[in-house]
Amino acid sequence: MLLDIDTLPLVDMAFMNEVHQEDVHLINRLFETLLAYESEPTEKNALAVDSSLEKWYTHTVSHFEGEEVKMRESGFPPYAMHKGEHDRVLGEISSLMEQWKGTREPKPLKIYLIEVLPHWLVTHIETMDTVTARFLKRSISPSNI
Ligand SMILES: [Fe+2]
Ligand SMILES: [Fe+2]
Repeated sequence: MLLDIDTLPLVDMAFMNEVHQEDVHLINRLFETLLAYESEPTEKNALAVDSSLEKWYTHTVSHFEGEEVKMRESGFPPYAMHKGEHDRVLGEISSLMEQWKGTREPKPLKIYLIEVLPHWLVTHIETMDTVTARFLKRSISPSNI
């Protein structure tokens, strides 16, 4: 297991917490398939990485879009900054996907999953997602202000 779901920071919107927990499951699954491929680089294991990588990427696109739709609907002022960070990370993930598909070399993805992603995810949730969720909660319930 790469990421422990119990250590994930919680934000003020349940829909975001649910998506983050799904994200952690998909990341852990991807990491397991990658380790299996590394110890036994068969075609079957490569296809399992393809599949878990595809699922994580698709989920990440909808994770980010889900937050962006809510930010636009509520007129969240730092929308562009938050979306810019989502776009940057999606760019990183898609170039790692292309690299993996072209080379079947697990190292770059493994290094990203260990050294970059967990720290990014926790920091992103603690900062931009926390502020966004707080804003969304207030915009839904003005009495909370
Ligand atoms: Fe998020
Ligand atoms: Fe976000």
